[in-house]
Amino acid sequence: MVKIAPSVLSADFGILAEEIARVEPGADLLHVDVMDGHFVPNLTIGPLVVEAIHKRTRVPLDVHLMIQNPERYIGAFVQAGAAYLTVHAEVCPHLHRTVQQIREAGIKAGVALNPSTSLHAVEHILDQVALVLLMSVNPGFGGQTFIPFVLKKIEELARRRERLESKPEIEVDGGIKIENCRAVAQAGATILVAGSAIFGAPDPRAAMLKMREQVA
Ligand code: DX5
Ligand code: ZN
Repeated sequence: MVKIAPSVLSADFGILAEEIARVEPGADLLHVDVMDGHFVPNLTIGPLVVEAIHKRTRVPLDVHLMIQNPERYIGAFVQAGAAYLTVHAEVCPHLHRTVQQIREAGIKAGVALNPSTSLHAVEHILDQVALVLLMSVNPGFGGQTFIPFVLKKIEELARRRERLESKPEIEVDGGIKIENCRAVAQAGATILVAGSAIFGAPDPRAAMLKMREQVA
C-alpha cells in the first residue's frame, strides 16, 4: 500500500490545527517542511511549530529539513516529536555520521536528494536509512511542476531497493497531483508527498481520498 503524506506547507497556517484535523483520518504521515533561507530561498518553520503540530495530531511527523548544518538541530527536532527526520545529502559532507546521529537519537533517518543529485550520493548507506526522499521539484516552494526525469530515478532506486534486506521507503516530493500520482506510484514510490494538491483543494480530505483511490 502506497502511503500518503499531506504537506502542511500548503495549509493555512492561521488555522493549522483545523487544516491538520481535516486530513487526519486518512493521512499516513504528515509532511513538515523546514526551510532556512540558505539551502533553499524560502523560510518556513522551526522546532517550536513542529512541537505544536505534534501536540495536535497522532499522525507521525515526517520532518523534511531543507537547511544547512542539519546536524546541529537533530536534538531539537527529536524533542519536538519528529518520527522521521530527513536531511539533504547536498549539505551533509559527513552524511553517514549525520544519519547515525539521527538513528542514535531513536527516530527514523531519511536522506533527501535534489532532482539533479545522483543516487550515488546515498548508495553506500541505503541499508542504514528508513527513507530516501527523491525531490521531484527543486526544493523551496509548494505548487511547482513535477520534473519528468525523476520518474526514471524512482525506477532505478526501486530496482536497487529490491536487492536490499531492509528496504527503505521511497518518498517522492514535489508536484504530485491526482493526475500523475499513479505514474509516480507505479515507478516505485512508497510514500507520496502532496501539498497544494491536498491543502489547495476546496476539500482537502476528499482530495486525499481521491489520490488514495488512484494508487490503490
Ligand atoms: C518543496 C517541499 C514540498 C512541498 C510540496 O520544497 O519539500 O514538500 O510542500 O508541495 P507540492 O505538493 O505543492 O509540490
Ligand atoms: Zn518536503
